[in-house]
Amino acid sequence: MKIIDISKDKGFPEETITRFRRARSCVVLTGAGVSAESGVPTFRDAITGTWSNFNVEEFATPEAFRKNPKKVWEWYEYRRNLLKDINPNQGHYAIAELERIYSDFWLVTQNIDGLHRRAGNKNVLEVHGNIYRNKCFEENTIVDNISVGAEIPPKCPNCGSYVRPDVVWFHEPLPKYEMEKAIEVSSRCDVFIVAGTSAIVYPAAELPIVAKNAGAYVMEVNIEKTLISTQMDITILGKTGIVLPRLTESIMTKVGK
Ligand code: APR
Repeated sequence: MKIIDISKDKGFPEETITRFRRARSCVVLTGAGVSAESGVPTFRDAITGTWSNFNVEEFATPEAFRKNPKKVWEWYEYRRNLLKDINPNQGHYAIAELERIYSDFWLVTQNIDGLHRRAGNKNVLEVHGNIYRNKCFEENTIVDNISVGAEIPPKCPNCGSYVRPDVVWFHEPLPKYEMEKAIEVSSRCDVFIVAGTSAIVYPAAELPIVAKNAGAYVMEVNIEKTLISTQMDITILGKTGIVLPRLTESIMTKVGK
């Protein structure tokens, strides 16, 4: 275990760069911290203004939607609206660069804001869903073209049930394909980066350990130490928008330069 404060140190340890240069496969796991520098309000931060009289549980559970579908739909519309002018930051772009560096690359994200794809990542596993996608509440199937306007929430064109955002709510399981794939790629990668997540809840608490136990070199990037820091090969303390571009630059710089 090694902890480095990027604001005080000149660069990454030699071993870190060697491991990243030698690696053929890379997995990155991200959380809300990566989007923080873009100004994305966290889930809890979005419960402000006229919404502040409600609890999280009143927005983000199947029970809440059943009870008051209009209110839940409108809150998600409000959040989509908050994201309208938000763009990927240097951290997102560095992760997209990593996908170009490694032929075997996977990104596992808990973020629902879609910023990783906008930055250029393609192999993305969204384990908490995507706020811009919708699905049928009853059939669980993706509904692409909803006719917004007439009714709130819109209705599924197939069965007439309500349409809901395709995000994972409390009391709901994580998506099966994404989670199986995330575990598979984590258990066979050479290097693993866990960035901008408190890593308290599953799967963030688990995947870096799966990778480590399978022999990967595991790096954490966070502005502060987390519960998993002691189990990492290295923790870099700093903003992902600063640390990750420095990392890709160091990997790409010719040895001896
Ligand atoms: N760079 C790096 N790390 C950052 C930055 C930054 N610029 N800004 C914040 N962080 C770190 C914080 O220190 C914290 O550890 O990002 C982490 C964000 O943690 P959470 O808010 O818990 O977000 P996340 O890990 O994505 O949460 C996962 O748990 O709380 C639930 O609903 C939440 O589904 C989400 C899940």
